[in-house]
Parts: sequence; C-alpha cells; structure tokens
Amino acid sequence: MIVITGATGSIGSELCRLLAADNTPCRAIYRKESQQPFFDALELEAVRADFDDIDSMRRAMQDCTNLFLLTAPDQRHVEREIVMIRLAVESGVQHIVKVSTANTNQSSALAYARSHAQIDHYLRGQPIDWTILRPTGFMQNFIEYAHPIGKGILPHMLGDGQISYIDLRDIALVARHVLTQPGHANATYYLTGPAALTVSDVAAELTAGLGHPVRAVNQSEADTRQALIYAGLDAWYTDALIEQFRIGANGGEIDTTGEVARLTGRAPRTLRQFVRDYKNQFTNQ
Ligand SMILES: NC(=O)c1ccc[n+]([C@@H]2O[C@H](COP(=O)([O-])OP(=O)(O)OC[C@H]3O[C@@H](n4cnc5c(N)ncnc54)[C@H](OP(=O)(O)O)[C@@H]3O)[C@@H](O)[C@H]2O)c1
Repeated sequence: MIVITGATGSIGSELCRLLAADNTPCRAIYRKESQQPFFDALELEAVRADFDDIDSMRRAMQDCTNLFLLTAPDQRHVEREIVMIRLAVESGVQHIVKVSTANTNQSSALAYARSHAQIDHYLRGQPIDWTILRPTGFMQNFIEYAHPIGKGILPHMLGDGQISYIDLRDIALVARHVLTQPGHANATYYLTGPAALTVSDVAAELTAGLGHPVRAVNQSEADTRQALIYAGLDAWYTDALIEQFRIGANGGEIDTTGEVARLTGRAPRTLRQFVRDYKNQFTNQ
C-alpha cells in the first residue's frame, strides 16, 4: 500500500490518476471535504490528514509500505517533511520517494534549494529505503502567466538563460515507476525535459501552439518582485522565486539528463506537447 501526500496538488493528482489506472493499492491524503470527489471518481482510497496534525498522518500511514512525500515548500518545509520521515520510519514504511528539486545545496541562497537539501540529507541517513527525485522547473509554471500570455506578453527576468523545463506529468510517471518497481533504493534522479530553452524559445512555442503572437519581455527584478507581491505571494516565496530566476538567468538549470526516458521507457514530453495539451488553460482566461 502506497500512501500519497500532496495528492491534491499538481504532481500528486497526476500520480493518483496513474496508480488508479493500474489498480495499484494506494491511499491518498487530502485536507478538504471538497477534494474527496476527485478520489471517489478514481475509486482510490483517500483519507483526510494534515501535516500539522501528526496523529492524522500516523493513522494515514498505517499498514503502508511506501510513502510518496511531497509538500509545497514554505518556512516550515524542513520541519514538516522531517516529521513525516520520522513517522514513516516508526510506522514500518519501507520506502520513501521524495520530490526534491534541482540544484539542492545546504548553503544555497535559494530558500527551497536549501530546505530540500536539508531534508534530503536527513532522509539519506534514515534506516529506510529512499529515492529522491530532483526535477528542474516545471513547464506548467507558465500557466501562471496565462493572462499576460493571452495579451501577447510573457514577462520574465531570465535574460537569455536556458532551463531544461520538465512537464510535471513526466515526474509523476517516474514516481509511479520507482514506487512500484524494484531497484531504486537509495538513488537520486535528476529529472529534466528534453531541451534547454530560453524564455524566447518558450514564447516561440506558445506563438506556434496558441495561434497568436507571444513575445518574451524581460522585466527588472523590482518589477518582477512587485508582480509576485500583487499575485499574493508571501515574502519568503517571493524572495525564493527571485533567487530562482537569478539562478536560471545564469544558466543554473541548463543540463538535460536522459533519466525520464531511462526510467519510464518514454521520451520526456516536449514544450510543444505541453502547449498543445494545455491550450485550453491558456485560452480560457
Ligand atoms: N514548480 C517547480 O518548477 C518545481 C521545480 C522543482 C521542484 N519543485 C518541487 O515540487 C514540489 C511541489 O509540487 P506540486 O507543484 O505538485 O505541489 P502543489 O501543486 O503546490 O501541491 C502541494 C500539495 O501539498 C498539500 N499540502 C499543503 N499543505 C498541506 C498540509 N498542511 N497538510 C497536508 N497536505 C498539504 C496540498 O494540499 P491542498 O490541495 O489541500 O492545498 C497539495 O496537495 C515542491 O516540493 C517543490 O519544491 C517544484
């Protein structure tokens, strides 16, 4: 039995669809009553639990052999994931698959590169099998810019920096594979898409896929910060994203790896495929 955290999020919900289609025994964790119908439709066992309610998580892990560990990073990221790892060890879970991030480093200026690095380091020292997935930036992040993209503008502060964006559906495919197939204990996988792209390359794909011109517009750090604050992000996350963009602008996420294809037997999705599949989310704004 696989217990899935982050099951209502982007990667987790995709993983749930994949595991439900395979009839793999699993138990998804959700927080709000309104999220239950998604799991009912998949005929997937689901329980209500919260990272901040340790007893609920302990109950959710009962009789489980594997844990898919994913939380949205914030100031309590390290504390929450370490508690989950401890609970898993105590509960007799045998294998944890954790979503981390590329460029993890305990001395990074990027808050979530630092917090993931701390958690990954802690996990590697536990008496339990683990697999750490380290993806680059998600193609799906561009959906956040659907409104300006609809007006023909893709704002960014990445300059000519290239990033090997990954479609998060491929992260879910890898997660399904490592959760259900042997041979991935104590391994760290760097997951990327098939090509390193500048934001101008992304704008060209959006232009071709959406059928109207989209132009990459480089904006200053101050304007980017203001836009993130207007979008409702807190100071911690705003600072983190600004740092992330600086790293991207300096070529920090260029390398492509063959890990998605090697692990799943399928080539990673291209940005063109992503734009085609998510066209409605860009046009229904
Ligand atoms: N975005 C990127 O480009 C990128 C790149 C590399 C790595 N990553 C990593 O990928 C992960 C994010 O993946 P994602 O986009 O799939 O996440 P997401 O869509 O933001 O989902 C977060 C999940 O965590 C759940 N959650 C939040 N607080 C909770 C709590 N207190 N108790 C129980 N569940 C809680 C959410 O539940 P609710 O639905 O109830 O809120 C949701 O299911 C992060 O670790 C991030 O660092 C992201």
